[in-house]
Amino acid sequence: MGMLEAEDRTDLLVAAFERLTDARPTVFGRAPGRVNLMGEHTDYNAGLVLPVALPHGTRAAARARDDGRVRLLSLQQDDAFVGDLADRGPGGPTGWTGYAAGVLWALSREGLPVPGVDLVVDSTVPLGAGLSSSAALECAVGAAVLGLLERPVVGATAELLVRAGITAEREVVGAPTGGMDQAVSVHGTADHALLIDFEDERRRSVPLQLTERGLALLVTDTRVSHALVDGGYGSRRDDCEEAARLLGVPSLRKATLEQVEGLDDDRLRRRARHVVTEIDRVTATVAALETDDREALARLTADSHASMRQDFEISCPELDAAVAAAVGAGALGARMTGGGFGGSAVAWVPTERVDRVVTAIDDSFAEAGFRSPQHLLATPSAGAAWTPVVG
Ligand code: GLA
Repeated sequence: MGMLEAEDRTDLLVAAFERLTDARPTVFGRAPGRVNLMGEHTDYNAGLVLPVALPHGTRAAARARDDGRVRLLSLQQDDAFVGDLADRGPGGPTGWTGYAAGVLWALSREGLPVPGVDLVVDSTVPLGAGLSSSAALECAVGAAVLGLLERPVVGATAELLVRAGITAEREVVGAPTGGMDQAVSVHGTADHALLIDFEDERRRSVPLQLTERGLALLVTDTRVSHALVDGGYGSRRDDCEEAARLLGVPSLRKATLEQVEGLDDDRLRRRARHVVTEIDRVTATVAALETDDREALARLTADSHASMRQDFEISCPELDAAVAAAVGAGALGARMTGGGFGGSAVAWVPTERVDRVVTAIDDSFAEAGFRSPQHLLATPSAGAAWTPVVG
């Protein structure tokens, strides 16, 4: 399948907007997808995560309407939403328009004077690949609305955008996700990963210096589609809450490995062990990056994948094959990333070995009879913003 580029499709988007609405957009909102480097299923356990914003993202071209109507269209999807501002909340539209309309609803619930709007979105984030195409959609739509209201995505307005995306996903779409994706889609910065502590919501940008280190982050979308509204994600979350309850702690962030090993129930013990060890691996990964300790980075990445495969049971044969082939062909380390049950793997690869690793993964998929995977390079990029349309 080759490498999926983060193309600039502005001209295509403007042309589609004009065709569909007979008018020019006045603003573009943009927000990236993400790949998480360490800390999976830790956000909803008050733990740590270390995601990177992708160069691939969603763009939303928008223009305010004065009749209060909302029209939402996508270059990737056939279904559209046409309705009134009032129709956008829980029980409103489902599918992709639920995310987009949900953000409009969430922003007005935050007290913003959200106008009627024509909005067309276009995404370069593969859908269902575990790369947060939904957070990119939510935050791009939100950024476009902020653009119509002329409010730059900084400070309290940036926080409001994160909250609106999370609200749309949890309350309108009904996906019980943890908040990492929207936070990095808004707060990601070029050349950095974003360390987020969900206990106190503190964030810190961690320099990655990939060019200086001669490393690339290779993402492989297995094209086994994952969905966060299916039962797997929610059942892991339930297991974590149950383990915390049995241990008498407010969240697994507060549990020690020793306590966790004392849990009687084998499944809950393994789930909790993943979370507690994974939180430690985030801190250790940041330290390994700061001291350029590649051996530690390799070990932590391998341990994380093993923990997700054995203890948390969210990997699948395609993810395991991508990880094994990447490491076999000279990647420093590789692990599955995101919610799991399909989606993508991420590998730290010396730049000169990227082609070799891609070929090795493709070959191993072909040999196993899996669908061809799709690859992209995760060059750490900036978070959500809007720009006025000029001309
Ligand atoms: C999904 C969720 C996030 C997080 C990850 C797993 O991406 O949206 O909140 O829980 O899975 O780390």
